[in-house]
Amino acid sequence: MNIAVFASGNGSNFQAIYDATQRGDLQANITIVVCDKPGASVIERAEKVGIPTLVCSPKEFASKAAYEQEIVKELATKKVEFIILAGYMRIIGEVLLKQYPNRIVNIHPSLLPAFPGKDAVGQALKAGVKVTGVTVHYVDAGMDTGPIIDQVIVPIGEADTREQVEHHIHFVEHRFYPEVLQRVLTKQTLKA
Ligand code: GRF
Repeated sequence: MNIAVFASGNGSNFQAIYDATQRGDLQANITIVVCDKPGASVIERAEKVGIPTLVCSPKEFASKAAYEQEIVKELATKKVEFIILAGYMRIIGEVLLKQYPNRIVNIHPSLLPAFPGKDAVGQALKAGVKVTGVTVHYVDAGMDTGPIIDQVIVPIGEADTREQVEHHIHFVEHRFYPEVLQRVLTKQTLKA
């Protein structure tokens, strides 16, 4: 199945997903990486492995709909059937949701519905919780509100620093996301 990965930053999850496709653990082809932040490291990561990128900043468009229409057009040329968000820091709008119904998933660094939105790790530390985790969910019009597909727990140790918790969460994400995606995409293929 042809997939697009959307990311805004470092792209370590993109890398983990790409590596899983190369090992054959995730049966999918990443045909494009979409990035809304010129200069983000994910662009270099994609270029390094020869995956086409679409880098476009929403600021250059008259509206969110116009921005997403441009993306949809590009995704069509790359025959994208499914969208994977991996650190894409924007709410998905109507245009993409309509074009890819139940075909957009996201990863979030908390046990949703706890700590949605930005800085989930900071929110968890502030709340003093002893366990947090990672959630993979379908995307709807809200912020981290779509149906949950799977979750995994990450404990927070008494003396853990923010960096340690973030590192642990990333470590878990890099294994968990490709594995969940393989299950989701297999289901999609059977449905089709
Ligand atoms: C991840 O922690 C993910 O859960 C969140 O954004 C972060 C992206 O990290 N949505 P990276 O760019 O993949 O390294």
